[in-house]
Amino acid sequence: MDTNNFKYFLLLFFLNFSIFTPSNLYAEEDLGQKLFVEKRCVSCHVIGRGRFAGPDLYHILDKYSDEEIISWIINPQSMYKKYSKTPINDGYPPMPNLNVNRSEAKLLLSYIKEIKKEIKRNSKVRISGKINNFTTDKFLDNQEIELMALLADKVLSNKKTLIKNGNFQFSDLPGNSAYKIILMHDGIEYSTDKFYFLPTENEKKINLTVFDTTQDKKEIKTDSVHLIITYDKGSKSITVAEIINIKNSSRNIFIGSNDFKEKIRKINSYSLFPDATSLGFPHRGEETFVVSDNKVTDTLPMPPGNRRVVLTYSIKLNLLSTTISKIFFNDIDSLTIIVPENILSFDIQGLEYTKKETHIKELVDEKYTTYSIKNIKKGDTLNLKFKKYDIFLNTKSVVGIIFLIFILTALGFTIFKKGVKK
Ligand code: HEC
Repeated sequence: MDTNNFKYFLLLFFLNFSIFTPSNLYAEEDLGQKLFVEKRCVSCHVIGRGRFAGPDLYHILDKYSDEEIISWIINPQSMYKKYSKTPINDGYPPMPNLNVNRSEAKLLLSYIKEIKKEIKRNSKVRISGKINNFTTDKFLDNQEIELMALLADKVLSNKKTLIKNGNFQFSDLPGNSAYKIILMHDGIEYSTDKFYFLPTENEKKINLTVFDTTQDKKEIKTDSVHLIITYDKGSKSITVAEIINIKNSSRNIFIGSNDFKEKIRKINSYSLFPDATSLGFPHRGEETFVVSDNKVTDTLPMPPGNRRVVLTYSIKLNLLSTTISKIFFNDIDSLTIIVPENILSFDIQGLEYTKKETHIKELVDEKYTTYSIKNIKKGDTLNLKFKKYDIFLNTKSVVGIIFLIFILTALGFTIFKKGVKK
């Protein structure tokens, strides 16, 4: 079990958010509410609950004409021009442009108009929920949980309470704030995303799951790895998206090994091709990985279930042929390599594979081939040989050309013979 003082951050998304919606809402109002969230109005404005990152929208119908409110929403700059003042409300920053079009702005305006009738001004909000320990399948008891109130990224206040038989509750809270729930369990810090209350919403129920930790790696398995390869003619490089699917089949959160010198957790490492450049992590924050010459190490504790790690990188190809190799650090049930073989000749050396043509609907112009390798063992080496298709250098086309010459000669010869007969 975890005995040191490191803190780990895990972002858990809410499983059930109870959004209080009055039953007499019109569909149009639902759309307005959806836009109020999607266009991030909710992260800066409340209606009737006071100042937030932006002014309370309760008074806007008295302050501005409908057309002016629509201008605020579509293009705040136009209001700054019209009033020759930035900001217009003292003590606030200017409102950013939010890419809202005219019909969306109209829906937002009618949403604000309708919702205003239902607003109880300065009403307080409540956050409650249940915390379950997945490992023991019991509710947490007598453990502290923290509520952080935020304005943009500034922490306004922290409150703590005890979880009783799984339940916690923070009530009588101001509605003009963003909130975040934070909980320490077995050395790991769990936190929710920042969340907000809708103008008529008074209560949120948040159910969270935590886990006991383990350092035992035997339940961590790599199910599959996919290498999706494309060729960029401009830079004469291949681009690889490497998708690694790992599974933790225990009921614990795996926290890997200690490295006190580097102050990181090593959850699992993945080998890199030495020639790889412009390494990217499109799926997850780069700061949750440690990169060294030949490997990438995941440092984010792994809860039970599946995890997907995605790496992208490029490798420049030589003029004639290029072989890249790497040694696997983990057993892998199945490796799939997808290559556009109409523009790139490709070969796998050293490991047994099966091969089939693949039709990818989205990429009809390219002809992809899928290579599959089963049961890779830790320590196995993968050698991939690439050749750029160049009509004069490629063996297949050279054979093709020789064959063509042969046919033409034969044909010419037959015609010639026919000519002679006559
Ligand atoms: C990043 C924060 C932010 C977001 C997101 C945001 N606003 Fe604003 N909004 C502000 C600020 C700050 C002001 C005050 C600017 C000023 O006075 O110049 C403001 C002003 C306004 C005003 C005028 C208020 C008054 O009393 O003068 C309206 C109306 C408004 N916003 C509507 C919206 C709507 C609708 C959305 C969603 C599409 C939205 N805002 C999204 C920050 C934001």
